[in-house]
Amino acid sequence: MSANPRVMAVRGVDLAVRDVEASADFYKRAWGLEEVGRQDSTVYLRATGQEHHVLSLREAPQAAFLGSRLAVADKEDVDAIHARATGFGADIASVPADLPAHAGGGYGFSFRTPDGILQSVSSHVARHAVRIDDRKRPVKFSHVVLRAANYPQLRSFYCDLLGFKLSDETDGIDFLRCSPDHHSVALAKAEGPGLHHMAFEMESLDSLLYAVGRLRHLGHELEWGIGRHSGPGNNVFSFFVEPNGFAAEMTTEMDQVDDATYPVRSKEWWRENRPYGGPCAWGVATLRSDLMHRARTGKLLAERNACDKVIAEAMAH
Ligand SMILES: [Fe+2]
Repeated sequence: MSANPRVMAVRGVDLAVRDVEASADFYKRAWGLEEVGRQDSTVYLRATGQEHHVLSLREAPQAAFLGSRLAVADKEDVDAIHARATGFGADIASVPADLPAHAGGGYGFSFRTPDGILQSVSSHVARHAVRIDDRKRPVKFSHVVLRAANYPQLRSFYCDLLGFKLSDETDGIDFLRCSPDHHSVALAKAEGPGLHHMAFEMESLDSLLYAVGRLRHLGHELEWGIGRHSGPGNNVFSFFVEPNGFAAEMTTEMDQVDDATYPVRSKEWWRENRPYGGPCAWGVATLRSDLMHRARTGKLLAERNACDKVIAEAMAH
């Protein structure tokens, strides 16, 4: 069994959506992902990179964040993290086993974090032999930010159980890495549990501008950005609200971290060192829209779920 098992990447996230065809249409035509398979009422979507899929959409009466999928090196690490999760008292949702071929196969297990968020850990998931040659579409999943009511315990789960490292800490968010990317998971110290936002990586600023242009051309408003975070990660950001009410980000140029030299910076340091004292290092992006604020707090998702429930009940009578 591996002595130091750890997560190496976030493969992507899984969402429950109210209308899978409408959501899949948004993520294919507007966001730029490509369908790679479907099973029952779940659609799997890839980016241009080789990861089997970066997003799955499962039709359900209410939209919800279903969880994240985490990559480890091999079966030994799957088994080792499973053993460690059991020792942590984690709620094991499925024990290590071969995974369904329609979702890329591989070997893995899943568990729930202390606040109930499902995490699947896997190795040997099929990879696409060929990258899609289109710089105007996302290349990979970048990061998932969770609203974590009990964030110290959740941070311990990510760091002590899954091998993440703390990159930076601010008053609002802890940023965790599992690769040279400054953050792949971040924990927002806010009401939760839930999805604060999910981000997909563009290969360059030029690529991101093309993607933002496509989204706007198709009628999707830019709710925050384009800007460069004047905070941890230093990445370029652009935020949209997707059809279910989740906050979705296109990002690029995230800081690459060297474990040997990177200084973890505290919330006190960040209070003192933000350029302009605002959210954008360029001084270009203004504050996020009210819609984006409600998406990141989960209020918009709840409102749209409630609205659709009323419509569905009225149609049934
Ligand atoms: Fe982000």
